[in-house]
Amino acid sequence: MPPLVEVRGASKFYDVSTGWLRRKRRAFAAVEGVDLAIGRGEIVGLIGESGSGKSTLGRLICRLVEPSEGKVLFDGQDITRLSHREMIPYYRRMQVIFQDNTSSLNPRRTIGAQIVGPMLRLGVAKDRRSAEAEAIRLLERVGLRKDFFLRHPHELSGGQRQRAGIARALAVRAEFLLLDEPTSALDVSIQAQILNLLLDLREEFGLTYLFIGHNLAVVEFFCDRVVVMEQGKMVESLPAEELFSSARHPATRHLLDSVLGIGDGRRKIELESQERTGLG
Ligand SMILES: Nc1ncnc2c1ncn2[C@@H]1O[C@H](COP(=O)(O)OP(=O)(O)OP(=O)(O)O)[C@@H](O)[C@H]1O
Ligand SMILES: [Mg+2]
Repeated sequence: MPPLVEVRGASKFYDVSTGWLRRKRRAFAAVEGVDLAIGRGEIVGLIGESGSGKSTLGRLICRLVEPSEGKVLFDGQDITRLSHREMIPYYRRMQVIFQDNTSSLNPRRTIGAQIVGPMLRLGVAKDRRSAEAEAIRLLERVGLRKDFFLRHPHELSGGQRQRAGIARALAVRAEFLLLDEPTSALDVSIQAQILNLLLDLREEFGLTYLFIGHNLAVVEFFCDRVVVMEQGKMVESLPAEELFSSARHPATRHLLDSVLGIGDGRRKIELESQERTGLG
């Protein structure tokens, strides 16, 4: 079986030309020459400094951003050149959960309507009545009582909004979820609940995730494999359980140092304290 998601030689250049009539033509590579395959049921974590191209790569996969070069395959099919109409089944199969999903939820419509609407439009439910029953079942599955069906997004907490977004993705029978810092804005305890929910749902629905995160402890816990980006390029890929022990690339070491104070970071702290105590 082919990987569920595959990116081959993908680049995204942005025009950053400057000067009078933008005569100094310059392209900035937000993503450059990335090859990545995500197997069915796998959770791949994507880490890297702010601006390293993580979100751009995620969006390229879901075709929310068009690649300047390279290909994106979903379930073995090259989707890079598909028209909007041809993309519709893929837009259904790939869903996105952003850090702040207030922008992906319509403030004027109820949560229920926003789950049922796509189910009917994309033809995953045979009629409104069965779509509503399924939406309520899924709301309950993600930990929201059924009265959330009639609530509006502003009546939900951040964590509840993420749960509603997850229910909506399940409702259209998504297979792949791009999770772009889905819990970064939440309290630690809520974050853990949502991550555990996502782990359970992966098993239950056979889902595949690309998880973009800043918290390396979370990435290590949640993911099977971690991919590291630096300035648009993929510089390292390793099993999540080896992130803290075996990461080699300087970019990864740098990320580890900045959060943990291990490696060179720890040495620096030790040296500083020695200096202070006059032992150095
Ligand atoms: N539409 C755009 N036009 C021009 N430059 C862009 C555009 N979108 C992204 N970029 C640039 O591409 C680079 C990568 O951005 P991206 O959002 O992918 O980074 P990121 O790794 O997700 O960062 P963060 O961790 O802060 O979310 C950044 O330098 C950004 O400024
Ligand atoms: Mg980002």
